[in-house]
Amino acid sequence: MPITSNFLNACRRQPVTHTPVWYMRQAGRYQPEYRKIREKYSLIEICQIPELCVQVTKLPVDQLGVDAAILFSDIMVPVGAMGLAFEIKEHVGPVIENPIRTAADVDRLRVFHPEESLPFVLESIQLLKQNLNVPLIGFSGAPFTLASYMVEGRPSRDYVKTKQLMWSAPDIWRKLMDKLADATIVYLRAQVAAGAAAVQLFDSWVGSLSKEDYLAYVFPTMQKIFGALADLDVPMIYFGKDTAELLVDFTRTGATVIGVDWKIPLAEACRRVGRNFAVQGNLDPVLLFAPWDVIERRARAIVEAGIQHSGFVFNLGHGVTHHNPPVETATLQRLTAFVHEYSAELLRAQRG
Ligand code: CP3
Repeated sequence: MPITSNFLNACRRQPVTHTPVWYMRQAGRYQPEYRKIREKYSLIEICQIPELCVQVTKLPVDQLGVDAAILFSDIMVPVGAMGLAFEIKEHVGPVIENPIRTAADVDRLRVFHPEESLPFVLESIQLLKQNLNVPLIGFSGAPFTLASYMVEGRPSRDYVKTKQLMWSAPDIWRKLMDKLADATIVYLRAQVAAGAAAVQLFDSWVGSLSKEDYLAYVFPTMQKIFGALADLDVPMIYFGKDTAELLVDFTRTGATVIGVDWKIPLAEACRRVGRNFAVQGNLDPVLLFAPWDVIERRARAIVEAGIQHSGFVFNLGHGVTHHNPPVETATLQRLTAFVHEYSAELLRAQRG
């Protein structure tokens, strides 16, 4: 890793020479090389074989020129270590055989030891640390998003079973959130000890909650997690989709970088988040299918807004979308170069 990193500096709201860029799901099915590896290995096998994990994690860094790598894994990997069998079904997503419904189900969940249960994750991180010239982001699913899969048993539109459990059995819900918080804390601490330079909590589906429910049923858990990680002194990114109305609450969780989806103009997101937190986002991932002039216009506006904020990381508002025909690697390459060049130009002008 370089001594100074624009990505880490932006997260820490320190000076940068250009706006750093990385993309959620920068490794994945849009890449022909990834699809080729997937002909032979399942997603989970790639996560479990450090040499493959390193190769897949590095590929977008080498191809796109991004400023950070994100560990190739899935938010479901630690769910398996907690004792819940799952499968990632093609075109469906995570599916769990025996979803969580009762207090006994929650009691059976194990807060695992990452060194014992997920040694391959830590080994991959150690190898990546030696092999990358950009910082590595470690990650975990956040408790609400993990619980949504654990309770529903599969991807859901309305999260009816999850919300029912939350409202009708708050004691069970609290126990579940608490266990997931404990597991997340040990998991992320182990990732940082192995070499992750920053962590991101993916709370992809928490935007399905009202503000009232977020504050009552999720917020204390997030405070617990970020509070328990604060001494690690690494940037802690908190991302959710459809969370424009929760951004202010996110700043009170203890996270240091706030992830923003594309539905809110970046300048407004920065205003809500305030000067004490870095912001990450927020190009609509579907724009990657638009003509280049449209992409450039939208990226330009995001860079202009982001550069006004102290601490800005360019990203998509959610992961690279899988579609046929897929996003072209060349589009992401061009976007990365554009954000680097345009932001460097603006920063030079700003310094006079
Ligand atoms: O490059 C990266 O961002 C790192 C890799 C990564 C994956 N999953 C690999 C993956 C990351 C950070 C995740 C996180 C993840 N997994 C989230 C949070 C981020 C988000 O997208 O909201 C969620 C909700 C999951 C659960 C999950 N896993 C889903 C919804 C899917 C897609 C199902 C489908 O077929 O569309 C997966 C599978 C998955 N995880 C893929 C990848 C590259 C694609 C499928 C494959 O290769 O088999």
